[in-house]
Amino acid sequence: MRDLRSALEQTRKNGVALGHFNVADLVLLKAVFSAAQELRVPVLVGASEGEREFMGVLQLAALVRSLREEFGFPVFLNADHTHTLKKAIEAAKAGFDSVVFDASALPFDQNTRQTKEAVEALKSIDPGIVVEGEIGNIGTGSEIHELATELSKYLTTPAEAKQFVEFTGIEVLAPAVGNMHGMSRKMVEGEQRKRLDIERIAEIRTAVQIPLTLHGGSGTDDGDLRQAIAAGISIVHINTELRVAWRNGLEAALEAQPGQVVPYKILPFAVESVKQAALSRLRLFNRLE
Ligand code: G3H
Ligand code: ZN
Repeated sequence: MRDLRSALEQTRKNGVALGHFNVADLVLLKAVFSAAQELRVPVLVGASEGEREFMGVLQLAALVRSLREEFGFPVFLNADHTHTLKKAIEAAKAGFDSVVFDASALPFDQNTRQTKEAVEALKSIDPGIVVEGEIGNIGTGSEIHELATELSKYLTTPAEAKQFVEFTGIEVLAPAVGNMHGMSRKMVEGEQRKRLDIERIAEIRTAVQIPLTLHGGSGTDDGDLRQAIAAGISIVHINTELRVAWRNGLEAALEAQPGQVVPYKILPFAVESVKQAALSRLRLFNRLE
């Protein structure tokens, strides 16, 4: 399973999904890699434009490549939510396995045209790159905030999904199916969960015949995630849950070691906390519970 395309085919055959986890530093990357390695499941590491800006596009690509080479392990790198062609090309040239080209804030016809242009440009740089396109509004920000629930009333229709996929030539589609980026405070406390429209996922999958990605996975009901994967979701994105675990781990480390200043004595707490969050989601996505 040396390339992302084969990994996606395999997940479909096995009735499972690839976990996609955003990373913004070495703590998150170590934790996600270690969780996937422990469970022996392929994994996608993602970085949005902001996360790439912080880590460095070439630096992140080199780190992930080094993990893949040293351990011979299927860890893939995705340029998440890329809003401009310039940034998409930068990631493709750095050797990213996939790009989420996200022009979903634009009207449908402009999104369609720009995404098609991106697919053509990226394939000319790397014919093996996987390009994902997005339609529908699923909010922004993998943070703790009140979710704009009125947005989740607008779902992607099978007809527009089909039109979008056929025109653009994307290989993976991210639809709006009740999902939303970020978590409310109640979700962090475990008192509220996001719910998905499973029937709509199945209808879209039948209409487009390509893998689907579920963005905004944090705080989603476990049962809905299982059903969504069975209905055609092949990649699930998780970010806020890891960010919450990152902060909790860091706070626990600082509290447990007052006066400590050695990074490699503080940061392992955060690695472990994020790893547990990633393990729990990977078990669910890969039916290892
Ligand atoms: O692209 C990243 C995600 O869709 C993550 O969303 O922060 O709600 O898990 P989340
Ligand atoms: Zn997303």
